[in-house]
Amino acid sequence: DLPPVDLPPVDLPPVDLPPGPRLGWLQAARYVAAPHPMLRAAAARHGDVFTIRTARRCVMTGKPALVRQIFSAPVDQYAVNAEAGPRRVLGANGMAQLSGRALRRDRRLLLPNFQGAALTSLAGMMRDAALEVAESWTPGQTVLMREAALAIALDIILRTVFGADTPDQRATFRAALRDFDHAFTRPGFLLLSALHVEQEWLPPFRRFATARGRLEALLRQAIARARLDGPARGDVLGRLVAARHEDGSAMSDAALVDNLITTAIAGHETSVVSLCWALHWLHDTPDCLARLLDELAPLGPDPDPLAVTSLPYLDAVVREVLRLWPAVTDVNRVLAKPMQLGGFEIPAGMTVAAAAAILHHDPELYPEPDRFRPERFLKNRFAPWEYIPFGGGERMCPGAQFSIFELKLLLGVLLARCRFTALAPGDPRPKRVGFLISPRAGVPLRYEGRR
Ligand code: HEM
Repeated sequence: DLPPVDLPPVDLPPVDLPPGPRLGWLQAARYVAAPHPMLRAAAARHGDVFTIRTARRCVMTGKPALVRQIFSAPVDQYAVNAEAGPRRVLGANGMAQLSGRALRRDRRLLLPNFQGAALTSLAGMMRDAALEVAESWTPGQTVLMREAALAIALDIILRTVFGADTPDQRATFRAALRDFDHAFTRPGFLLLSALHVEQEWLPPFRRFATARGRLEALLRQAIARARLDGPARGDVLGRLVAARHEDGSAMSDAALVDNLITTAIAGHETSVVSLCWALHWLHDTPDCLARLLDELAPLGPDPDPLAVTSLPYLDAVVREVLRLWPAVTDVNRVLAKPMQLGGFEIPAGMTVAAAAAILHHDPELYPEPDRFRPERFLKNRFAPWEYIPFGGGERMCPGAQFSIFELKLLLGVLLARCRFTALAPGDPRPKRVGFLISPRAGVPLRYEGRR
């Protein structure tokens, strides 16, 4: 197996890197505030590959052929991000900290539980999470979709992945996850992590360790419960504790805990942001909303959740949402060895990135790229290096199928049942929320009542 490579946190010696905007705090601030237009402007000005500063100095591309090269490189081309910050938050035993054969081995065990037939048994849990929130709305009320989506998406992770099937269990997990989230997003924790300070006795790290310890203890109890109940429960954890590697061994408890925490972090806010963009674009493009409602109508106001997930236009809507405002603007890989990219030799230790924000707006692939036109996904199929909302290659998002299934189901169930009026129509102003870009106003809709 490839050991994680400890990377120099500071800049590398000067080498002949691709051109790019002047690297400095102003450029970094523009990237943080509004990466979509900033990355597209940099590509228009500097060409197919350019150098910019994101979290690190990075060589970026949105050209299909080069994106393909990044995602199809051999396993030993990339290193794990061995910085202490992500390792502390996500843990040392989950898939985010593996590379090479160890990563492949654990992904082979993990991924089937988030895909294909495994999704079927999650549909009812997803629908229940959505309806519990929708039933609290009264006609005439303003619903801030960001808040509603946060409640629904977290509930879905707790029910479908953690296997928390009672309201009490979910309330306990919600509180523990909230404390954990606060602990690693506090300025003190972020600053010390960015400065690579390692002293665990410092108060922000101690507070974080307490919050993570509490969450870990709850997850260990959930793992023990799942072992007793067996896989018949149908949730991801129930399947995971029963799953075996090819040599017959099970995933360790430490790896299960870290993978559950990674899943909660990676799979929660991304779904919220994408659901918000979907509801924004549908209400901003009445023809598309009407076409979707026509498709849903034969299924009635309380549609079978599985029937919803096989509707073709709904599928195209979700894919178009993920194209137009990809929640993750660029996907990074740290080089373990030098790489030839677009005529440049990029040295080991540098980061290369495939930019969905650029690729998804290539007018040769997506004519009128700024328009919300789901039909393009009915007429065309795109290669894995032409459409990358979930990244690609060995590290591609393990929740890709799960998310598309979840987004279709939530949109279908909510729109078949509820009538809304948009309260902030027009072009959305984006806003950064953590690593992601979300509609600024949070998509306020007036709930008009049931269909
Ligand atoms: C619309 C929703 C989502 C989007 C847009 C999204 C996007 C992404 C992207 C771009 C990556 C990086 C992939 C790469 O490096 O090639 C990623 C990683 C990841 N995603 Fe998702 N994701 C979503 C939902 C989910 C869900 C629902 C789950 C779990 C149920 C999940 C679990 C993960 C995990 C665990 C990783 C880290 C994999 C690793 O580091 O090896 N994601 N996601």
